Amino acid sequence: MRDYWSFFSAGQWVYGRGAVRQLGHLLKQRNLRSVLLVTDSNLARLGYVDQVRGPLSDVGIQSMVFDGGEPEPSIRVAEAAFEFANSRRIDAVLGLGGGSNMDLAKIVAILLTHQGHPRDYFHFDRVPGPVLPLICVPTTAGTGSEVSHAAVLTDSETGLKMSTLSPYLRPDLALVDPALTDACPSQVTADSGIDALTHAIEGFCALDFSRVAVPGEQAVPYAGSNPMGDWLAERAIRLIGEHLQTAVEQPEDQEARDGMSLAATLAGLAFSNCAVAVVHALEYPIGVALHCSHGAGNGLILPYVMEYNRDVSAAKYAQILHWLGGDASGMDLPSAAQAAIDRIVALRQSIGIPHRLRDIGATEDQLPGFARKAFGIKRLMELNPRVPTEEGLLEILRRAL
Ligand SMILES: NC(=O)c1ccc[n+]([C@@H]2O[C@H](COP(=O)([O-])OP(=O)(O)OC[C@H]3O[C@@H](n4cnc5c(N)ncnc54)[C@H](O)[C@@H]3O)[C@@H](O)[C@H]2O)c1
Ligand SMILES: [Zn+2]
Repeated sequence: MRDYWSFFSAGQWVYGRGAVRQLGHLLKQRNLRSVLLVTDSNLARLGYVDQVRGPLSDVGIQSMVFDGGEPEPSIRVAEAAFEFANSRRIDAVLGLGGGSNMDLAKIVAILLTHQGHPRDYFHFDRVPGPVLPLICVPTTAGTGSEVSHAAVLTDSETGLKMSTLSPYLRPDLALVDPALTDACPSQVTADSGIDALTHAIEGFCALDFSRVAVPGEQAVPYAGSNPMGDWLAERAIRLIGEHLQTAVEQPEDQEARDGMSLAATLAGLAFSNCAVAVVHALEYPIGVALHCSHGAGNGLILPYVMEYNRDVSAAKYAQILHWLGGDASGMDLPSAAQAAIDRIVALRQSIGIPHRLRDIGATEDQLPGFARKAFGIKRLMELNPRVPTEEGLLEILRRAL
């Protein structure tokens, strides 16, 4: 058990509408001359690559572009990105896009520095040392990868998403320009936005840091909830309650976009220090088998997991209700906790996230396999507020079917 907490972030976080224009100066300050941009062909076609390359070339920084990224990137794409980059002179890696491209950039930075194969670095703390300078420029408001220590790849062989977690994966620079999310399609806005909400809720509701068993002074993938995480999660949840639905329904609303971009990074800081838990564990096998996005899978499962945890997290759920703009006056704690879950169900409905696993093609016979795989991801079980069992996970899935 620990009697102290600590907190990690990106080396520098720059936030603001139009901030992308500062990129050249920010990289020049770091003496970088030659940058690999990791992105996808969709974003290249939409002009995002030009928006980033312009400020770089203005200050004489060369950039080369790998635009073979894909949603929920596979190991194969990571290998291809590394092959593209390996023979070139590269000072830094810049991930441009949603969580998928930012995570791909992180894996490429590991491989360019330490060689090997993506599988060598799966799980926690297997990256042996610092990696090439990493810059992350999100174009979605959701994953928080721009400040997190995580990179997720899809392993088609095992049917699981595999996380590489390392303190060396927190980017040197997170450049968050909400204008880059203005053209985000509504479905991507909804999916990534509810992912951010899930991060804030799982981080806030995680076991308290003082109850997390830590052998010696060993580093841990997640350290449990703490006051800093609580503040960040609260702010993120308030912003998401205020802005997510508007960002989905009125994509041109800049105030909503600004709020969601801020919320996503705050939630990224919260979860990557405190925890994500059973929602994320269940999403990993579901997402791979049913080909739904990370955010949609999380959003679908979130209220069912909240029900599972409700009795132990009731006081925190009552706070969440308040932060989402609900009124708990006159309610006892169990009713307020249920009202928080109902509010999230209503938000999920209003932004078009599916409610049931069968809506995304799941069948009853798949559920035991999902529960077994999810239960096997120990780091996501350990900090869940209620001690999970495989049978409990199966029960959650049956209710969600
Ligand atoms: N590393 C972490 O800490 C972390 C945390 C949560 C999730 N993730 C991972 O992030 C991935 C999901 O990322 P995501 O939700 O940001 O979506 P995404 O990166 O998968 O992008 C989804 C689609 O939206 C498009 N898109 C993105 N921004 C756009 C824009 N501004 N305009 C138009 N189109 C745009 C992309 O081209 C892509 O086709 C998953 O692989 C998930 O596992 C990582
Ligand atoms: Zn997530």
